[in-house]
Amino acid sequence: MNIEDLSKELSSVVIQNETELEQFRIRFLGSKNILKDLYAALKDIPNDQKRAYGQQVNELKQKAEDIYASAKAAFSVSQNQSQKEDLTKPATDPNVGSHHPLSLIRREIVEIFNRIGFVVSEGPEIEDDWHNFSALNFPPEHPARDMQDTFFIEKGEQEWALRTHTSSVQVRVMEQEKPPIRTISPGRVYRNEAISARAHCFFHQVEGLYIDQNVSFADLKQTLLFFAQELFGEQTKIRLRPSYFPFTEPSAEVDVSCSLCAGKGCNVCKYTGWLEIMGCGMVDPNVLDACGIDSKTYSGFAFGMGVERIAQLKYRVTDLRLYSENDIRFLKQFTPGVS
Ligand code: PHE
Repeated sequence: MNIEDLSKELSSVVIQNETELEQFRIRFLGSKNILKDLYAALKDIPNDQKRAYGQQVNELKQKAEDIYASAKAAFSVSQNQSQKEDLTKPATDPNVGSHHPLSLIRREIVEIFNRIGFVVSEGPEIEDDWHNFSALNFPPEHPARDMQDTFFIEKGEQEWALRTHTSSVQVRVMEQEKPPIRTISPGRVYRNEAISARAHCFFHQVEGLYIDQNVSFADLKQTLLFFAQELFGEQTKIRLRPSYFPFTEPSAEVDVSCSLCAGKGCNVCKYTGWLEIMGCGMVDPNVLDACGIDSKTYSGFAFGMGVERIAQLKYRVTDLRLYSENDIRFLKQFTPGVS
């Protein structure tokens, strides 16, 4: 074999498996390799050609070493892979994500009210003054309209606001439908608050409305007791404290007995045994009339709660900001049915 033939051979060599790799090694790099004859022939080469000849043989050797090294590396990668992967192993579950804790709680609240005949209604987040305030009996100078609480949007002649509660949806329902009305309105609401662990500039509510003939405060109380027991457990008690809302009269704040300490007192209920969860009251006759429902024939009750507040109690999340930061380590802790 001369240099030229070997050079051609190296240029066209194909190594397909480990056996071929070993054959290649023995032929070009082994202890009795074919290049040795070429080196041995050096002594018969005329002196003036020795240098060029030696260089050519060295190049051949280098080429053979390179081919060997790269083929070997390629085989060892594929070998590692086949050792790592057990093809009989069941496939790993795709990462399907999880439901947001607020969605889970909202769904739970909605389902409880669905069971007693309340249907969901939705409305716009950008509202006019009428639906967010005026129809709900807010006098023009009421402090809740103040810039501190409400995000106002100026567009042309009209002033718009980001709704501060989903009571605005209930106004729309009352304007469009005739009693009996039984509806709940889940949705996002906005208030102009500095963001902290305990307050945010947006949060979520579920508000409810029931209007028919002869609806009484006793109906309201019983409905809320049913709701509280479905959500927090059969042993749950409720208590109503007098309060004020422009759109209800009388109005009340609803407390549930603390589900964590069973009313004995703990740091979540601040040692009172009670947790405030919502506002409620009998719909003010002014509101019914403003929405085209005759307040002499019909009466109704309304209530509204914050979804974050309920989630905080059920999941013991103390920092409101976690709900909107989308940190996957937080979100993946919540799975349906676990509360
Ligand atoms: N709309 C009130 C709020 O956002 C809650 C509420 C609704 C109170 C219905 C009473 C009756 O705070």
